Amino acid sequence: MKKRVLATRENLPGRGLERLSEGAELVAWPGAGKPGPADLAALAPGVSGVLALGNDPVDAALMDAAGPSLRVVALASMGFDNVDRAAAAERGIVVTHTPRVLAETTADLTFALILAARRRLGAAGASLAEGSWGLFRMHDYLGLDVHGATLGLIGYGQIGRAVARRAHGFGMRVIHHDPYAPDDDLSTSVGLAALLADADIVSLHVPLTEETRHLISARELAAMKPTATLVSTSRGGVVDEEALLDAVREGRVHSAGLDVFEREPMGGELSPLVAEPNVIALPHIGSATEATRAAMVDLAVDNILDVLAGRPARTPLPGSTAVAGAPVGG
Ligand code: DGY
Repeated sequence: MKKRVLATRENLPGRGLERLSEGAELVAWPGAGKPGPADLAALAPGVSGVLALGNDPVDAALMDAAGPSLRVVALASMGFDNVDRAAAAERGIVVTHTPRVLAETTADLTFALILAARRRLGAAGASLAEGSWGLFRMHDYLGLDVHGATLGLIGYGQIGRAVARRAHGFGMRVIHHDPYAPDDDLSTSVGLAALLADADIVSLHVPLTEETRHLISARELAAMKPTATLVSTSRGGVVDEEALLDAVREGRVHSAGLDVFEREPMGGELSPLVAEPNVIALPHIGSATEATRAAMVDLAVDNILDVLAGRPARTPLPGSTAVAGAPVGG
C-alpha cells in the first residue's frame, strides 16, 4: 500500500509532485494561499512524509498531528529556520533541505543585487519612468564601482563560493568570515570585525539560527564603511531592519540590496526599507528560475521517496538523521 505524503501546495514547478504521486498517496493543501497550521494539521493524520516550502512552519504540533507514521519532512528550500529540528530529532523524523541545486541561481541574484544597489539602478530607472530624465548631467545617477571593490562574504558555503567566483570576473578582492571555512584560492578568511571594516560590499550567506539572528545590527552597521553596500539573500532575521533603515537614511551605509525580510510575505504592508531610494528590495526570489525551482522540488521528492523506501535521505539537514527511526540526541 502506498504511504501517504502531505504537500503544503498542490502546484509546484516541474514534475516533482507528479513523480511523488506515482510513488505515494499525495494529499495536497488545495487552497490558493498559504495554509495555516490548522489547515495542515487537519490533513496530517497518518502521513509518512511532509513536503513543505521554506516559509511553512513545521512544528511539534504538526508532527504530532501526523502521528508516529511521520518519517520525513522534506523542505523544498535550502533554509530550514521554519522547522522545529529538536522536535523532529526527538521523534526520529528525518528533515531534509535542498542544498547545491540552488547555489548558482542564488549567486546570480546576489550579484544582481550588488550591481543594482551600487549603481543605484532602482532610483535611476524610477526617475526615467516618471519623466524626470530631461537633461544629461554629469553628476546625475552617480553610483559606486563594483569592479575592483572588496567583497566581504559572511558565510562561505556553496552560495558564498559561487558569489566569490563571479566576483573574480569583476576583478574584485574577496574576503570571508566563516568559522568553518579556511582560506581557499578564491577568498581569504578574516574575522568579522576586519571584514566589516574592510569590505565595500558585505553579503550575507548564513542560515537563520539563534546564533545568526540580528547578526547585522546597529553595532555592525556602524563598523561598516559609509560607502559600503549590505546585501542579503539569506533570511530576513539575520539583519536588524530598524537599524538598517536608520543607517541607510542617515547615510551611514551607502546602500542595501535585500531579497529577504523579517516579515514575509509583506502583502500591502510594506517594510519602510522598500521605499528607500538606496535600497533595492525584492520578494524573496533568490532561487526563482524555472529550472532551479523544479530541481528543488525534485530533490525534496527524491528525499521523501528514498526515506519511505528505507534508504538514507540524499540531503538531510546538518545534524538530522538520514534514516528515519530512533530518536536522535535524546
Ligand atoms: C531557500 O531555498 O532557502 C530559499 O530562500 C527559498 O525558500
